[in-house]
Amino acid sequence: MNAPSIDFDDVQGTILRGYRVDYARHFVLSIDNVPAMSSLLSSLVSGTNGLPKITTALRLESKPESFLNLSFTNTGLSKMGLSDEQLQTFDSSFQLGATNPSVANNIGDVGDSAPSNWIDGLNDGGQVHLLISLWARDSKEVLESISATLASAFSGVATIILQHDANALPDNKIHFGYRDSIAQPTVKGAPPAKYEPDDQPEVATGEFLLGYKNEIGGTYTVSPTELSLNSSYAAFRILEQDVAGFNAILDSFAQTTGMETEMVAAKVCGRWRNGNPLTLSPDQQEPVLPTEQLNNFTYVKPEAVNDDTLGLTCPVGSHIRRNNPRNAGVVGTDSTHHRITRRAMPYGKVYNPQNPDDGNRGLIGYFINASITNQFEFLTGQWDQTSTFVKSAEAPGGSPAGNAVFNISGEDVFLGVNDPSNSSFTFPKDGVNGSNNVNVTGFGRTIITRGSVYCFFPSITGLRYLANLAASQG
Ligand code: HEM
Repeated sequence: MNAPSIDFDDVQGTILRGYRVDYARHFVLSIDNVPAMSSLLSSLVSGTNGLPKITTALRLESKPESFLNLSFTNTGLSKMGLSDEQLQTFDSSFQLGATNPSVANNIGDVGDSAPSNWIDGLNDGGQVHLLISLWARDSKEVLESISATLASAFSGVATIILQHDANALPDNKIHFGYRDSIAQPTVKGAPPAKYEPDDQPEVATGEFLLGYKNEIGGTYTVSPTELSLNSSYAAFRILEQDVAGFNAILDSFAQTTGMETEMVAAKVCGRWRNGNPLTLSPDQQEPVLPTEQLNNFTYVKPEAVNDDTLGLTCPVGSHIRRNNPRNAGVVGTDSTHHRITRRAMPYGKVYNPQNPDDGNRGLIGYFINASITNQFEFLTGQWDQTSTFVKSAEAPGGSPAGNAVFNISGEDVFLGVNDPSNSSFTFPKDGVNGSNNVNVTGFGRTIITRGSVYCFFPSITGLRYLANLAASQG
């Protein structure tokens, strides 16, 4: 499949470009005055009336000091004037919204993570209409100054339900101490990345943009056609991280297995905390590999020496292998049809074990895809919550060392709905049918959902269409 030619200036930037910034501020808004929202939207699309311009995927020669993107919820699109008939052509989970009980239940937003416990007004999906996200390259002053401009522009147009900041930590670390934002899909036809692309297969454009062929030859579309080319969806997530709780789990796994705590941290994730993948640094963390090599690996190899079909090096149930099994066999469509682009950043202060607190910290941002149902929800609801998706596979030569299906148990340590009474993680070892595996249990959740919004990022053409449509609404 040849790469399609994409009009980058018609695509909202965050879908195809990682901004790599220090600060972000997310505004969750409820529309009060539809015609006024129409004018605000027009000004944001054109960058007029003193407002910042919505960033597109067209890369400028020098990196701007700020970036802005905007997305609507299902109720937001309805408010702007889309008919029920049109909305029925959208992704089915997007139509229901993140607070819908069956949606929440499916992806593990239950118990403490249930919508009824979400912060501010996020538990009331009906009043959440749009999200505006502002990113500042390196200056908090720029963030504050553009935020002030936006806040005054919102006055009389929309109410801010939630305003939430994010700030990068050194070396792209997140609160559990791992380096993040390494593995991202290379989308066919997308603007070239800063580094040489990794050696992973490119993913069909239609997995991330509506209107193009996806990995199985279909095309996600919506009605009207003005919204159907170059638009995308995302799950916006606020995920609180309990660092002390996570460290305690690692220590307890280390005790049970006799492994070093850092090795345990690498096994549950699939990468060492410095970002090196276990597949390339199997025995110890080692100095961090060059950025352009960090994602050059697969799990299954034809030659026995480098093969990890059984997950003896990178566990089959580790976070990165569950969320992208790469070339390892899975039941159903392969991993290329379930990829997501992660645009999330940490929030809150770094946890200091010398001065423990129960502070509010975590990860906030967008998990982007052309189908919420088949990508974000498939990962979080299926591969992160089950262990039966792995296809029967032995190491090359039919090794007596076992079969991959025996080498995974329970749910993802990060994202699973783990209950100490039945949680389980497998450290695979050589042995017929997993006979020598070490299983650990007794751990609970250390990542709690504090809010979520399912959103639709219209193309620039789509935003203009919506602004015109809303201008005629009463
Ligand atoms: C607070 C929550 C989370 C934490 C602490 C976390 C942590 C990590 C870390 C440390 C990595 C390795 C760095 C990298 O490859 O870029 C990673 C990769 C990844 N995570 Fe998460 N993650 C979180 C939430 C999620 C969610 C909600 C999803 C959505 C399903 C997700 C899907 C992925 C994927 C697809 C990869 C890349 C896998 C690959 O291609 O090898 N993560 N995550």
